[in-house]
Amino acid sequence: MKGFEGLQKVIHGHHSVGFMLVTGVIMVVVYFCRDDTGTRFDINGETEVAEDYSFKDCDFFNGSWVYDNRSRPLYKEKQCSFMADDYSCEKFGRKDFEYQFWRWQPHGCDLPRFNGTALLEKLRDKRVVFVGDSLGKNHWVSLLCLIDSWILEPSHKVAEWHGSLITFRASEYNVSIDFYWEPLLVESNCDDPVNHRVRDRIIKIESIERHAKQWINADMLIFDSYTWWLEPNMTLLWGSFENPNKTIVESRRVTRYEMALKTWSNWLETHLDRNKTKIFFISLSPDHKEGGDWGKSMGQNCYNETKPIMEEGYWGKGTDTDLMRTAQSMVQDLAKKGVNVKILNITQLSQYRKDGHPSIYKRHWVPPTKLELMNPVQYADCVHWCLPGVPDVWNEILYAYLRYNR
Ligand SMILES: *[C@@H]1O[C@H](CO)[C@@H](O)[C@H](O)[C@H]1NC(C)=O
Ligand SMILES: *[C@@H]1O[C@H](CO)[C@@H](O)[C@H](O)[C@H]1NC(C)=O
Ligand SMILES: *[C@@H]1O[C@H](CO)[C@@H](O)[C@H](O)[C@H]1NC(C)=O
Ligand SMILES: *[C@@H]1O[C@H](CO)[C@@H](O)[C@H](O)[C@H]1NC(C)=O
Ligand SMILES: *[C@@H]1O[C@H](CO)[C@@H](O)[C@H](O)[C@H]1NC(C)=O
Ligand SMILES: *[C@@H]1O[C@H](CO)[C@@H](O)[C@H](O)[C@H]1NC(C)=O
Ligand SMILES: *[C@@H]1O[C@H](CO)[C@@H](O)[C@H](O)[C@H]1NC(C)=O
Ligand SMILES: *[C@@H]1O[C@H](CO)[C@@H](O)[C@H](O)[C@H]1NC(C)=O
Ligand SMILES: *[C@@H]1O[C@H](CO)[C@@H](O)[C@H](O)[C@H]1NC(C)=O
Repeated sequence: MKGFEGLQKVIHGHHSVGFMLVTGVIMVVVYFCRDDTGTRFDINGETEVAEDYSFKDCDFFNGSWVYDNRSRPLYKEKQCSFMADDYSCEKFGRKDFEYQFWRWQPHGCDLPRFNGTALLEKLRDKRVVFVGDSLGKNHWVSLLCLIDSWILEPSHKVAEWHGSLITFRASEYNVSIDFYWEPLLVESNCDDPVNHRVRDRIIKIESIERHAKQWINADMLIFDSYTWWLEPNMTLLWGSFENPNKTIVESRRVTRYEMALKTWSNWLETHLDRNKTKIFFISLSPDHKEGGDWGKSMGQNCYNETKPIMEEGYWGKGTDTDLMRTAQSMVQDLAKKGVNVKILNITQLSQYRKDGHPSIYKRHWVPPTKLELMNPVQYADCVHWCLPGVPDVWNEILYAYLRYNR
């Protein structure tokens, strides 16, 4: 997978105080103006929802994308202090900006309007951890960008990198929102947060403790793990890397995914404080690597795509529903044991967004070859998402759950 993943950007996010001060001043002006006139949210198409509003009958995940250049995007790429080079498509030359202007509209209701202050108040004195792969990081960076403009003082929002863990602190609220790199959930030879481009993946299929002790005491956990399982063959290992007592090559995806999730769920069952920790599992984030799926010629992909797929119910053939079902049944089993995990079923809504990927407009940690430059389809990233963009909606839905206690 991708090299630095922009982790280094997060670090220098908090070094570049000069830049933040400048944008800070601009933001202060903008926000004060809007607050004075009381119209700050009138420019936004949605209505504020009362605190006790109930969304219980609404399926957030069934809906459509609506072009709305009045209320979207929710923030500007350049103004986000925590933006990473992996997702800043505008910075890397993308010229069509419509991908930023789509709002997700559930059929049965409106999503509540995002309010960073309300979210931070809800999370006061709490620790939130996103655990997973680079899509989890994409999701986490999106949340920081959404919150960013609600905290005016740059020194009150700081991100720091400690090995596999990146910590974001909103000090006024005593809130931590962290990301922990753990792409396969269980331990593996891909656990280095920087050098994880490993050709042959080796998974310690029954070991999770080294990771889990970093996050088990959090107040809220948001897991994702999918793309890294798509390899044809992976080696499963028991014992230690130095001293394996058994190894097998497992070529059935669903088998090894199930084994890893079993390790994960056993850990939660025995170690989780059920009264304290809220858990979410993000359903798989679909890619757009195969243009044949939506009627392009075979061998094309998300490169050059500027519009979402509008066909309701569209489903890419490459999306592995077996893995989705595996996660779903694992979560059902956990519920029977008193551990509640909420699945955020974002697969379908993301599936429509063939236009939402960075494609060639991002930092490529390994520069493209001459051959690739001649045929950009070959190095287009059709897996991650530009920001502002699709993961903002994942967070709007997450926000709805947190704020309104669904
Ligand atoms: C989504 O909503 C539409 C319109 O309300 C409804 O016809 C359809 O059955 C729903 N789909 C699912 C999967 O619930
Ligand atoms: C928004 O989109 C409409 C329709 O495409 C266009 O006419 C209008 O100029 C756009 N407004 C802004 C602010 O970009
Ligand atoms: C955001 O939420 C805070 C705290 O609940 C509230 O005081 C504020 O009025 C909200 N802002 C807007 C613009 O809705
Ligand atoms: C900050 O939050 C942590 C829990 O995340 C808590 O243990 C600590 O007491 C809080 N600090 C203050 C000053 O309230
Ligand atoms: C996966 O493993 C099988 C059985 O060991 C082997 O036949 C196949 O060539 C391997 N596939 C790849 C892509 O390495
Ligand atoms: C290998 O070692 C692990 C941990 O020490 C142990 O749980 C497992 O049963 C062992 N497996 C075999 C086949 O000996
Ligand atoms: C969790 O809450 C339940 C009901 O409020 C209580 O009976 C139980 O003792 C609590 N468990 C722990 C570990 O605090
Ligand atoms: C991408 O779009 C450009 C401009 O519209 C066009 O020249 C080029 O042929 C397209 N490339 C592919 C691979 O579709
Ligand atoms: C998620 O949505 C898909 C359709 O978009 C559906 O097939 C699947 O059952 C849903 N999964 C869960 C856990 O709700």
